Amino acid sequence: MNASDAPSPGGELRRPRVVTIDGPAGCGKSTVVARLSEWLGARGVATVGFSTGLVYRGLTWCALERGIDLADARAVRALLRGVELGGVELRVVELRGELRVEVDGHDPGEALRTTRVTDAIHWIADDPEVRAALLPLQRALPAGPVILSEGRDLGTVVYPDAAVKVYLTASLEERARRRHSEFRDRLGEEISLEEVQERIRRRDEHDSEREAAPLRPAEDAVVIDTTTLAPEAVVEEILAEFPDDWFPPAAPSGAGGGADE
Ligand code: DC
Repeated sequence: MNASDAPSPGGELRRPRVVTIDGPAGCGKSTVVARLSEWLGARGVATVGFSTGLVYRGLTWCALERGIDLADARAVRALLRGVELGGVELRVVELRGELRVEVDGHDPGEALRTTRVTDAIHWIADDPEVRAALLPLQRALPAGPVILSEGRDLGTVVYPDAAVKVYLTASLEERARRRHSEFRDRLGEEISLEEVQERIRRRDEHDSEREAAPLRPAEDAVVIDTTTLAPEAVVEEILAEFPDDWFPPAAPSGAGGGADE
């Protein structure tokens, strides 16, 4: 039995309804997940968002906190041997419609998104053994809600049988502009636009060229270039891919349902 299968209260198997949204840094994945979740929530469809990069970020953050040399693959792999052997306890927990990653029982929050962590992730993300060890964590999903998952290899490796697969792209310049505002507004980090662009370029190169689960669209993914598209337009294209039975049956006319925009 697959780790992500779960029996429903009625006894039958209810597979998680997974939407994979892959793509490079700054292509709009998180914005699209937030808008999709809002749109679906307003229509009675429960969702849970999962930024799978948090799993990689959690492990990287832990290694940095413990002073482990990330270039030492054996020391990093040892972290995954379980708490009883001095390893880290990584847990995926649901919190207000999102899956979060707890490291040794606590959520490091925004610390996971700092450039200190982002710059060091490649040591972990490049290692096939580490990637394989992190798969079960990403696959143990709640069975009821629609899972809006974002990452790099979700459609190709993590959830190859997902019902809806999306791959977002955008020009490097546009992605750098979006990330730059995020660093300033959300993380309070002072960093120039040129520097953000250069970091993203290097990370793209790394994510696309690594041997283990490189960044690329699944063959059955719908590819959307978001460079000049408003988030609403992207959401509309994605919703067109949803199976009809993910939506509650339409209310009979005259039942006073919410107005459509
Ligand atoms: O989505 P993000 O920026 O939080 O991801 C950070 C890094 O984690 C990304 O550059 C590569 C790695 N990652 C990965 O290898 N596979 C995923 N499914 C998600 C993230």
